[in-house]
Amino acid sequence: MGKMEPLSAAAPVRTLNYQSGFGNEFASEALPGALPVGRNSPQRCPYGLYAEQLSGTAFTAPRGANRRSWLYRIRPGATHRPFVRIDDRLMTNDFTQAEIPPNQLRWDPLPLPAASESVDFVQGLTTMGGNGDPHSMSGCAIHLYCANASMDGRFFYDSDGELLIVPQLGRLRLATEFGVLEVEPQEIAVVPRGVRFRVELPDLKSAGGTLDAARGYVCENFGAPLRLPDLGPIGSNGLANPRDFLAPVAHYEDVDGDFELVTKFGGHLWSARIDHSPLDVVAWHGNYVPYKYDLRRFNAIGSISFDHPDPSIFLVMHSVSDTPGVDMIDFIVFPPRILAMENTFRPPWYHRNVASEFMGLIHGVYDAKQGGFVMGGSSLHNCMSGHGPDASTFEKASQADTSKADYIRNTMAFMFETRLPIRPTRFALESAQLQRDYSDCWQGLAKQFNGKP
Ligand SMILES: [Fe+2]
Repeated sequence: MGKMEPLSAAAPVRTLNYQSGFGNEFASEALPGALPVGRNSPQRCPYGLYAEQLSGTAFTAPRGANRRSWLYRIRPGATHRPFVRIDDRLMTNDFTQAEIPPNQLRWDPLPLPAASESVDFVQGLTTMGGNGDPHSMSGCAIHLYCANASMDGRFFYDSDGELLIVPQLGRLRLATEFGVLEVEPQEIAVVPRGVRFRVELPDLKSAGGTLDAARGYVCENFGAPLRLPDLGPIGSNGLANPRDFLAPVAHYEDVDGDFELVTKFGGHLWSARIDHSPLDVVAWHGNYVPYKYDLRRFNAIGSISFDHPDPSIFLVMHSVSDTPGVDMIDFIVFPPRILAMENTFRPPWYHRNVASEFMGLIHGVYDAKQGGFVMGGSSLHNCMSGHGPDASTFEKASQADTSKADYIRNTMAFMFETRLPIRPTRFALESAQLQRDYSDCWQGLAKQFNGKP
């Protein structure tokens, strides 16, 4: 047997500085003394900067849920030309394009863009489905991205929601108003609603790397900002620990030029000319910030006796709804873990849920499916759609020796689970990547009933 990988993350080489903690009241300045002391909006700010507040929750939200930051910047965010509509390409928030089928659905990864076409992160957003709508600030859109170019002279912000970005192939360098974040596959980044940023792809061949393109998944959250769940009887530690969330330090660009500012507003893309980089924030403080998290740091908790708990134990973050305990979005991860419960069917059980489940595979293999669900692929099991292990997984797991532990090391799957059914887009339903034989994986489940107890 080869050397086993540990179940906790090895410390990666850090080339960027970060501040640690989830939802902390951070403060950062790229120039000494740039942050006003003792007040947010002095008559004149240090260095001749403009003060600007960016709020992510209602002003009067309870303190524990309140998110806002103060930015001290070279020019206010209002300084740009008017927006005009541009082509949305395959990004949409119209979830009424197609009839929603009750079928189990699964897709292969999207093909990488052709080398002859330059596609950046925003241009490469392809919507697979969603629910709710951005105008009512409720629901989400689920996109895939596939890009072969860094954003150059283009900046983006999403007025409709917060972006939970899950890279699957290639690193992303997110240059934001708050500073620079870099994420690799098995890490995630969250860019709050309204935060301006540029996506660079450091692993492309054109940047000295080895890849032709980068790809991954995005959950665009129209509702309440993602937060860490309460832990209940788990106690004060475990699952995603707050200290493992990293926010950037202030970093500004004092650059003039003919640039483009793109926003997603009301479900569509809009473009404005801007004569400077909007990443011109010299100092900031607050708790409304972009952040990253390494999924390999997730402390998985499970059964050590018998039976398979509900997947809520794999909850990384959630967007809460107005109904306690019923989330608008759950972001769930299935990380490396040890299955030691005895005399039990160890893979996920067969189930039909009121919630709807969109899954992706970032790394390795998923333990409920022997094949067909590949890295970069997706699946959708909507409300009350029956699913569970395929026939070969059932056969293997129901015969397995459960006196020995299963070490599931080579895996990192995730789920965007929502309270509302996820309505696939026409693209998703007509895509060549749709596996039209997916339901065959359960057809081999033979009748086991033999009349004996
Ligand atoms: Fe499921």
